[in-house]
Amino acid sequence: MPFAHVTGWGMYVPEPVLTNDDISKLVDTNDQWIRDRTGIRERRIARENEFPSTLGVEAAVKALQVANLAPTELDLIICTSSSPEYIFPATACIIQDQIGATKAGAFDLQAACTGFIFAVNMAAQAIRSGSIKNALVVGTEVLSRFVNWKDRGTCILFGDGAGAFVLQASDIPGGIMSAVMHSDGSGADTLTLPGGGSHFPASELTIHEGKHFVHMDGKEVFRFATRVMGRAVLEALEQVKMTTDDIHCIIPHQANYRIIETAAKYLKMPLEKFVINVDRYGNTSTASIPIATVEAIQNGRLKSGDKVVFVGFGGGLTWGAMVVEWTGPIPAKKQIHPEQYRLFARLRSFVRRAIRYIEGFFSRRSL
Ligand code: UT7
Repeated sequence: MPFAHVTGWGMYVPEPVLTNDDISKLVDTNDQWIRDRTGIRERRIARENEFPSTLGVEAAVKALQVANLAPTELDLIICTSSSPEYIFPATACIIQDQIGATKAGAFDLQAACTGFIFAVNMAAQAIRSGSIKNALVVGTEVLSRFVNWKDRGTCILFGDGAGAFVLQASDIPGGIMSAVMHSDGSGADTLTLPGGGSHFPASELTIHEGKHFVHMDGKEVFRFATRVMGRAVLEALEQVKMTTDDIHCIIPHQANYRIIETAAKYLKMPLEKFVINVDRYGNTSTASIPIATVEAIQNGRLKSGDKVVFVGFGGGLTWGAMVVEWTGPIPAKKQIHPEQYRLFARLRSFVRRAIRYIEGFFSRRSL
C-alpha cells in the first residue's frame, strides 16, 4: 500500500492589515481586551478583487512549486472553505481551472474550521487506496465578507488567507500516519452562517435579520474546543502507539490563544511545542493550519523527519487530529515551473468558453 506524503506547501494572505485599534473604531472594544481574551493583534482582509479562489490559487501554485509538480499531474483537488466562492460550483473547480490542473477531479469539502484536517485525510486515503497518486488540498477564506462588523463578539476574531498542501504517493514509509475525525450535529447552531442555504434562502427578511453573517455562541464554542482538542490529539497518537513525547510540534487550528494554552495544559506539554500565529492573522478557519505549517517550516520549527500533530475544531460541530511524519518534496531531476501553467490555463479556459459558446450558438440555430 503506498504512503501519502506531504510534498508541497504554500500560503497566501492579502496585504491589507486590520489592527485591533482599527476595529475599536467600528465597535465598542479595545486592543487590550482583544489581546487578553484571544491573543489576536491583527488580521488580513482581502481586497475587493480578491476571492477564496484567487487566494487559493496563489497558495496552490506555491505548494506545487515546493513539490516541483506540474498542475497537469494532479489527480484530485479538494478545497475546503467556510466562506466559499458560491454554494455551487465548488471553489475547487475554479482553482482547478485557474491553475491548469487539466486531469484533476475537484470538489469542495465542508467541515468548517476542521475542514483542512478532514480534506487532507480524504486525499491521503485516496492515495493510500492506490486510486490516485497526486492530490492538492486547499483551505481558503474570505470570511471578512460574512462577518457582521457591528458584532464585537465575532468581528474581532476572523481574518482572510489561504494555505495549501500537495500530497503524493510514495513507497517510502512516512507521511500521514493516523487521523481521527469527529462530528456532533447537536451543536450545529453553536457556530453557523444560516442564511443563503435552502433553509433560509436569501430574502429581505433574512438580510434584515442578519442571517447572512457568522453567528456564534463564543462561550459555548470555547468550552467545546477546550474539551475536544487535547482528547483528539491523544486519540490520533494512540492509533500509531505514540505519546506526546514522540512529537516535535503541534500545529493547532488558530482560533484563540487561550484555547491553545488550555490544550497544552491538558496534554501536559510546554506551550513552546505549539505553533502559534493567531496574533498576526486571527482565525482564518480552514486556512489556519496550513498557514501555520508554512511559517513553522520557514522558521525551522518543522523539518524533514519530524513528527507533527495537526488538530482542529469548528462549526458542525466538528473536530479532528492527525499525526504526520514530515518528509518534504520527492527529489526530482527536472525543475518544474507550475506558475508558468497559469497563462496556459487562462488561455485554455478562454478557448473552452469560446467553444462552448459557438457550439451553443449553432445547436440553437439547428433546433
Ligand atoms: O474556529 C472556531 C471559531 N470560534 C472560536 O474559537 C471562538 C471561541 N470563543 C472565544 O474565543 C471567546 O468566547 C470570545 C473571544 C469570543 C469571547 O471571549 P469571552 O472571554 O468568552 O468573553 P464573553 O463573551 O464571556 O464576554 C465577557 C465580557 C462581556 O461583558 P460583561 O457581560 O461581562 O459585562 C462581553 O459583553 O466581555 C464583553 N465583550 C467584549 N468587550 C470588549 C465581548 N466581546 C467584547 C469585545 N470587546 N470584543
